[in-house]
Amino acid sequence: MANKALIICFIVALMAAEIGFSASALWATSTKAGKETTTNLKFYFHDTVSGSSPSAVRIAQAPVTGSSKTLFGAVLMADDPLTEGPDPKSKLVGRAQGLYGSACQSELGLIMAMNYQFTEGEYKGSSFSILGLNQAMDPVREMPVVTGTGRFRMARGYALAHTHWFDKATGDAIVMYNVTIIH
Ligand SMILES: *[C@@H]1O[C@H](CO)[C@@H](O)[C@H](O)[C@H]1NC(C)=O
Repeated sequence: MANKALIICFIVALMAAEIGFSASALWATSTKAGKETTTNLKFYFHDTVSGSSPSAVRIAQAPVTGSSKTLFGAVLMADDPLTEGPDPKSKLVGRAQGLYGSACQSELGLIMAMNYQFTEGEYKGSSFSILGLNQAMDPVREMPVVTGTGRFRMARGYALAHTHWFDKATGDAIVMYNVTIIH
């Protein structure tokens, strides 16, 4: 009889281990992390600083910004459309909203604090955040994805930004983002 009870206890413990459940205390339970998902996203980011309806506007600058070749100290607020293709008229999939500013004196290095929110498909309503330096003159630069919301809760990852088109005269740019997210 005692043996039977012991065996049942053993089986229950095994089953608990199997589903990754550990009952250490009532107020704090933990579940084993399930399978992680890796998502790859590709979209085009349209940053327009020129014209009568720019998508990024300068909101602050330092006394030295005007004499700096990198516009050191300038801070912009952006609400940039994200599209499926490089054509600005292609399908809108989301928006990149937030701040970027010139944080580098020797070359154009933008510190990005931006939220990328999706409005289409499976990731509609979900977002991720990028916080890092964007060495804008490099053809490809890597930036960290710090976390997200919705489908991207607890996400981590990185974005590879490729300049698709850049107008030196105005500063307008179209950038292809290739984002790898684990969530
Ligand atoms: C996107 O990034 C992934 C992972 O870094 C890479 O394997 C893939 O080739 C890239 N795709 C494009 C179109 O750049």
